[in-house]
Amino acid sequence: MSNPVKTTRPLIIAPSILSADFGNFSAEARRVENSGGDWVHCDVMDGHFVPNLTFGPGVIAALRKATKLPLDVHLMMTRPDRYVDRFIEAGADAVTVHVEPTEYDIAKTLAYIRSRGKLAGISLNPPTPVEAVVPYLHLVDLVLVMTVNPGFGGQSFIPSGIDKVRFLREKSASLDISVDGGIGVETGRRVVEAGANILVAGNSLFRHPNLDLAAAIRELRDACQPR
Ligand code: DX5
Ligand code: ZN
Repeated sequence: MSNPVKTTRPLIIAPSILSADFGNFSAEARRVENSGGDWVHCDVMDGHFVPNLTFGPGVIAALRKATKLPLDVHLMMTRPDRYVDRFIEAGADAVTVHVEPTEYDIAKTLAYIRSRGKLAGISLNPPTPVEAVVPYLHLVDLVLVMTVNPGFGGQSFIPSGIDKVRFLREKSASLDISVDGGIGVETGRRVVEAGANILVAGNSLFRHPNLDLAAAIRELRDACQPR
């Protein structure tokens, strides 16, 4: 890998449970752990902020029992403030909310997540300018840059996220910068070169050609590890 933008943060691979077998989430979380995943990424969709529905705190509680890995909970919701407490109670380790909804107090919600001792994250969709998250950087542990329009796994990577990652990394060497959507070996390498250190990946890992999750995680890590 050539000249990655400098960060002090380690590379984290966060398989997205959205692409796993919905009938066997506990087993799938254990499989992520046994296959070398670092975090389990959990996509919560409210059918309002995004045109899809997934799962709520009950599923997070079940995942909590199944794995010791950190649960990285991504709330694609218009009113995440109404539910953060329940996700934290259920066992979330990181809670990420979106910058786009105007219906809730973002700063207050982020401060609350941190006050509970959890990692607070802010996310932005592909059409949202990166400047939108700047007022919140002092309140967050991670920024999650969406590189697909949220709602569904298996979409194609939107490259405008790369410049957002670079912009954020230039502001901070110690921020965790996560990229979510269409991440595989090639796109992963590009975003890590720009300064990302957390790779959320669904289809490229769970739909790996021979369905070998451990091999898929290893390939992604080997391709993207800054050297
Ligand atoms: C999209 C989700 C992503 C997605 C990633 O709304 O936030 O986490 O599941 O999946 P892939 O890697 O398949 O794009
Ligand atoms: Zn996500």
